Amino acid sequence: MAELIGLEGAERLGVDEVHDLYRRYVNKSQVRLMTSFGFGRELVDHAEGAYIHTRDGRRILDFTGGVGVLNHGHNHPRIVAARQRFQEQRRMEVHKTYFSPYLAVLGHDLAQVLPGDLNKSFLPNSGAEAVEGAVKLAFKYHGGKRGTILRSDISFHGKLLGSGGLTGGAQNHFAFPTIPGIGSFRYDDLDSVREAVAAARRPDGRCDVYAILIEPFSASTIRWCSEDFLRGLRDLCTEEDIVLVFDEIYTGWGKTGSMFHFTQYPGLVPDVVTTSKSFGGGKSSISAYVAREPVFQQAYENMTDAMMQSTSTTYYGFGEETATAIEAISVAVEEDFPGRARAIERVLAPGLDRIRKAHPDAVAEVRGAGALFGVFLSGGPRILDTIGKLLPAGLAKDPLLRTKIITSAVVNALYRDHDIFTYYTLNGQSPLVVSPPLVTDLADVDRFLEALDATLSVGMTKLLTKFIRERVSSLW
Ligand SMILES: Cc1ncc(COP(=O)(O)O)c(C=O)c1O
Repeated sequence: MAELIGLEGAERLGVDEVHDLYRRYVNKSQVRLMTSFGFGRELVDHAEGAYIHTRDGRRILDFTGGVGVLNHGHNHPRIVAARQRFQEQRRMEVHKTYFSPYLAVLGHDLAQVLPGDLNKSFLPNSGAEAVEGAVKLAFKYHGGKRGTILRSDISFHGKLLGSGGLTGGAQNHFAFPTIPGIGSFRYDDLDSVREAVAAARRPDGRCDVYAILIEPFSASTIRWCSEDFLRGLRDLCTEEDIVLVFDEIYTGWGKTGSMFHFTQYPGLVPDVVTTSKSFGGGKSSISAYVAREPVFQQAYENMTDAMMQSTSTTYYGFGEETATAIEAISVAVEEDFPGRARAIERVLAPGLDRIRKAHPDAVAEVRGAGALFGVFLSGGPRILDTIGKLLPAGLAKDPLLRTKIITSAVVNALYRDHDIFTYYTLNGQSPLVVSPPLVTDLADVDRFLEALDATLSVGMTKLLTKFIRERVSSLW
């Protein structure tokens, strides 16, 4: 018989044993990369709200926001209860021939929260699947007669073959094959969109663009579109009958101070919106794309195509995932997540600005909205350029290498010396991301600000020396 470790065995493993299994059965380089950056040396015992509790007794304030997943914090009691209830009632979640009251209610509740006639939902598992579902819907809406899709130069839409090709940022350094007909425009620049639409025009003058895909707030670069741009884009898409897709996978459910970033602008309605991450309440891997009635109707609303959109995945709209998402929406509405994000912003924005002024050599810029800010670090000693040249060619050529090393040193010091977990993005100018869950106490936002101030007060040279010394010693 196979010698299995099993569930209880997994719970008993020490960190070295876990590393060893990763090395043998998952990815050796992942272990090397994480541990050499000072992470992955501890195991988590449990996590609640804005805190992670490690097995060796550390209490870490999680200001990563779970990269968009944790608006509700870790293990929100109502989310946990919803899942337990579903299991205790022995609900069924497999067969699509029995209609699911959960899927029905989730569609209804999404339509309630979203403006206009954004009423028709499909519920796959990941953000990338939602993006690709939206793209397929737009293509089908035009009956396959248009061949171009436009996305912005700084976008991030996922890592599958389609969504990866639709990602315009620097995040993907290897070119996988993708869907045909992808064009690009400059973010937040309507003239650039017009040029891209014109460039794709057919010889007979007809428009060839079937969809435009954009993040109204780009979480990976901490940039956002102006209201004028978004409204102009809406008008352009209406004139040319282009399906306008807003990707709010990261920013939905209150993060930037409104339920979705675009819903702060009354009357602005895209043709399709995508959501995921905190849609699952921090527990469930679920996503959605929600389409306007007429767009959905033209694409799929007939007996031949009725099941066509479901061809993306077996696991769409599964019971426990949908039950969790129903509760996640209720919590976001009843606990006023947009209001919480604005309350966090009222502490975070002036606090980060004070830090920028106090450390002008280290902080080039601070920007963001709600509970999602970027701190753009700069400076550092000359020796960094020499170190950069010694690295393997791929790394040495990275124009943001200096920023990444500086930002890593700050992320590392916050974690090591202040028990605060942050991250930096690989897209755009690689800011340090400050992304508290929306359940964070405002006192903890103050604690973070004090810790960042204290870290930068150490001075970049000292921070870097310590950071590099630790990295070098971890390699031996
Ligand atoms: C804006 C945006 N779109 C799409 C995705 C892809 O989502 P997933 O990683 O669930 O496929 C992400 C993930 O970070 C995202 O931030």
